[in-house]
Amino acid sequence: MPEEPVIGDSEPQLLEVEAGVHFWCACGHSGHLPFCDGSHKGTGIQPVRFVTAVPVTVAWCPCKHGEVPSVCEETKGP
Ligand code: FES
Repeated sequence: MPEEPVIGDSEPQLLEVEAGVHFWCACGHSGHLPFCDGSHKGTGIQPVRFVTAVPVTVAWCPCKHGEVPSVCEETKGP
């Protein structure tokens, strides 16, 4: 059974990422939030893969409860 994720903040973290593959931290233990640094080992939680073909600004979710877990629900467009 996976541990509950650690919720670090209630506000999304707006950050631009380069084109490519990124791994969002789903456990909340990373020292480099919102991205995975491998600290999830032993929690039963895995990082979430995020892929973009172009540089994009993302509202990274801090609460870990979104439908698309890496992106904040409140800042998504229609
Ligand atoms: Fe949190 Fe990897 S450090 S998912």
